[in-house]
This record gives sequence, C-alpha cells and structure tokens, in this order.
Amino acid sequence: MKAKVILTRRWPTAVEQQLAEQYDVTLNDTDEPMSPEQLRAAMQEYDAVLPTVTDRFTAEAFDGLTADNIRTKIIGNYGVGFSHIDLDSAKRLNIAVTNTPDVLSECTADIAILLMLMAARRGGEGEREVRSNQWTGWRPTHMIGHKVSGATFGVVGFGRIGQETARRAKGFGMNVRVFNRSKVDAAVLSSFEATQVDTLAELAASVDFLSLHCPGGAANTHLINADILKLMKPSSFLINTARGEVVDDKALVVALKTGQIAGAGLDVFEGEPALNPDLLKLENVVLLPHLGSATATTREAMGFRVSDNLAQYFRGEEPTDRVV
Ligand code: DGY
Repeated sequence: MKAKVILTRRWPTAVEQQLAEQYDVTLNDTDEPMSPEQLRAAMQEYDAVLPTVTDRFTAEAFDGLTADNIRTKIIGNYGVGFSHIDLDSAKRLNIAVTNTPDVLSECTADIAILLMLMAARRGGEGEREVRSNQWTGWRPTHMIGHKVSGATFGVVGFGRIGQETARRAKGFGMNVRVFNRSKVDAAVLSSFEATQVDTLAELAASVDFLSLHCPGGAANTHLINADILKLMKPSSFLINTARGEVVDDKALVVALKTGQIAGAGLDVFEGEPALNPDLLKLENVVLLPHLGSATATTREAMGFRVSDNLAQYFRGEEPTDRVV
C-alpha cells in the first residue's frame, strides 16, 4: 500500500507529479494555509505531512496527539527555516522533521542584495515617483542615495545563505564583517577576507549594512531590538531575509522615523502576511513579500529535496536533511 502524503499548499507541478507517482497524495486545492486544528487532523490521517512556513506547527497543533492516535512519521518541510515547527513536540511523538538547505541559498542571497541596493539607492521610492507621474526630470540633487560599492557589509549568521550573500557583497568591493554564534573556520573567513567580531553590538556599530541570515525561533526573537538599532550608524541600513521575528518591528519603525538608521529592506515580517502598518507609511523601507527562494528552478529544487528526504525515510534510511 502506498504511503498517504498531504501537501499543505500547491507546489510546482513537476514535483506534485513525481510525488503522486510514488504516494497516495492529497493536494490542498484551495492553496490556503492550514489551521493548527487541520494540521492536527492531518497528522492523524497521513503518514507524511509536507508543510511550508505558513503552517503553524505550534505546540497547540500537536495537542492531544499521542503515539496511539498519530499516523504521521515525517514532516517534510518545504523550506530551510523550520521555526514554525515545534521540534519538542515532534521529538516527543517520534516524528522526523526535514528541511531543504542549500538549494535556496543563492536565490535568497540575491534577494538580500536586491534589498540592499533598493534601500540604499532608493529604488522603491524612485519607482513610486515615476509611476505616479511625479518625476520632473534629472537634477544634481534629486533622490540622492548611499554608495554601496566599497562600503562595509555586516552578516549576522554565517551559514550557507550568509556566505552566499557575503560572496555577492565582495563583488561590490565591500568589506565583510561577521557575527556568528560559533567560531567560523579561519580558512572560510579568509576566503571572504572577512573579520569575525565577538558581539552583535560590535557588528551593528561598525557596518554600513547589517544583513540578517540567522534562524528564527525563540532564541533569536527580537535579536535586533531598540538597543541594537541605537548602536547602528545613522547612515546604515538593516536588511532582513531571515525571519520576521528576528527584528522588533516597533523598534525598527522608531529607528526609521527618527533617523537612527537610514533605511531598511525587509523580505520577511513577524506575523506575515500581516505587517506593522507603520512600515507602509515610511519611504525609507523597502518591503517585499517573502520572495527569497521565489524562482522556478529553486522552488522545484526545494520540492525535489523534500521528495528525496521522504524517499530515504520510507526506504528506512536516515533522511539527508533531518533536523530532528
Ligand atoms: C525558507 O526556505 O525558509 C523560506 O523562507 C520559505 O520558508
């Protein structure tokens, strides 16, 4: 008998087709995020649940589930970040959780650079001006931004995506500084001609761009808070392609309004797709709808990576990307 598998959102067609050949697959035709209650019911009905960042696998979703009434053996997350899944509950119920590292690092790094350029060179504002017929022509003092080339680029979290972003920053002749909780291998640092600093505060105070590439979740919630923002240079920018909760958005709004920092570029938001409405009123912040991995090849590669992990699991092997 084929294993029963549910995809919580619609995936690239090629991946859906491959999964449908191997498993008894249920697709979510509405493509709406599932509620914790629906996720709980799915874990009682399916051998594998394949969620995305929009599915809140909180402790509440696992409430009342026991070894006797649960069917799910693997949660194959479509994405590298897994802070939306309560790993303690998964462990308690002996559910394997996998993610999709590597395949999205380049595209997510591209979006970090896009945000940096748009924020520093006022790309969003410029586009809004042209589209609203407000542009009156070239002049020496018009919409002056900040130079990116040669500036100092700060990376918070020097994993795969942080390194890909740093590689791109080097292409702009930028100096790279890094804050990472563990010591980064000296050879890796030297390949970026990068310096690792000991504290986030030191990094924040010394860079022109502070780009976030750490995981989300409780440990990093509001890592970027009012204290850190106050340390940043008034000419500096914050870039977030990691997770919304890493930034205290109320403190960020204050920093953007009062000129504590020059601007920000955000691809992720705490509680997204809702976002702090004050952000919408500010010109000096660029807002994107969580586009980090949104290219056709990457989204397919993510799906096939989930599929590989699933196949390994059902063959009785250890999935390559098992996180618990
Ligand atoms: C990721 O892969 O973590 C993306 O942010 C989508 O979840």
